[in-house]
Amino acid sequence: MNDPLDVFRLTDRVAVVTGASSGIGRAVAEVLAGAGARVVLGDIDEAGVAAVADAIVADGGDALSQRVDVSVRADQDSLVARAVDAFGRLDVMANVAGVASDGPLADVDEAEVDRLLGIHVKGTLFGCQAAVRAMRGRGGSIVNVASGAIDLAVPNYGLYALTKSAITMLSQTLATEVGGDGIRVNVIAPGATLTAFTERHLRDEEGEIVPERLDAFLDAMRARSPIGLVGEPIDQAWLVLYLASDASRFCTGQIWRANGGQTIPR
Ligand SMILES: NC(=O)c1ccc[n+]([C@@H]2O[C@H](COP(=O)([O-])OP(=O)(O)OC[C@H]3O[C@@H](n4cnc5c(N)ncnc54)[C@H](O)[C@@H]3O)[C@@H](O)[C@H]2O)c1
Repeated sequence: MNDPLDVFRLTDRVAVVTGASSGIGRAVAEVLAGAGARVVLGDIDEAGVAAVADAIVADGGDALSQRVDVSVRADQDSLVARAVDAFGRLDVMANVAGVASDGPLADVDEAEVDRLLGIHVKGTLFGCQAAVRAMRGRGGSIVNVASGAIDLAVPNYGLYALTKSAITMLSQTLATEVGGDGIRVNVIAPGATLTAFTERHLRDEEGEIVPERLDAFLDAMRARSPIGLVGEPIDQAWLVLYLASDASRFCTGQIWRANGGQTIPR
């Protein structure tokens, strides 16, 4: 009998993952490598992403890393070129790097607007452009990362939400443009997930996690989910594995929500 799980295997495939030194990007890198992909990992945290690559190699996988600022086109081109030079091809591009931004839209300053547009909009676009160039003629899968913030207007998350919303239209439009090249483009919109990104709400002035803040945060997130769960990075990584693999060959231009039902309209 054929093993239906074989369709998820990424043996001989090559994947680039940005934001791979921490949280969701790290989990994506580990899961894709665990499924057999050779991975090339980029992050602005050079030492952090090198440590993730080293751990994958120590575990028997193939991984390389390099420092990349996703908002810089030359960095993204160089990251994808590294994958093609080292492993001969690119099959999967996961544009995961992202940052938080807090504060009311009425007061946000120009530098912060430029920072968020740079990392989320330019960063995702430049990653996609580099990937499309490498994938043209042979196909591939691009996975971009939005957020549950695209579904709900929440005070103080406006700049984050609008730049993440741009990623969905970028991805859907690109999907219509490159489908003929066999390239699929999908977006994941993660629900609240405990990572360095969410921990900013939970730390005191010394940078220590305050247990009461952690409990309150987990309670608030559980309350939003009909199944009472708070997400972990692996929940997003399993979804990215599906979208990277041939199991999702009929899926493109879609927004995928592993979020515990947090954004069900109620
Ligand atoms: N954690 C959540 O609740 C949540 C929810 C929805 C969406 N997301 C999105 O998921 C993605 C991953 O977030 P996470 O929760 O794992 O956070 P994280 O802070 O743990 O990881 C983000 C990574 O991106 C890297 N990064 C930041 N700016 C960069 C740049 N300019 N160039 C290259 N790398 C850069 C950071 O160094 C870090 O390793 C982000 O796009 C975030 O917006 C997170």
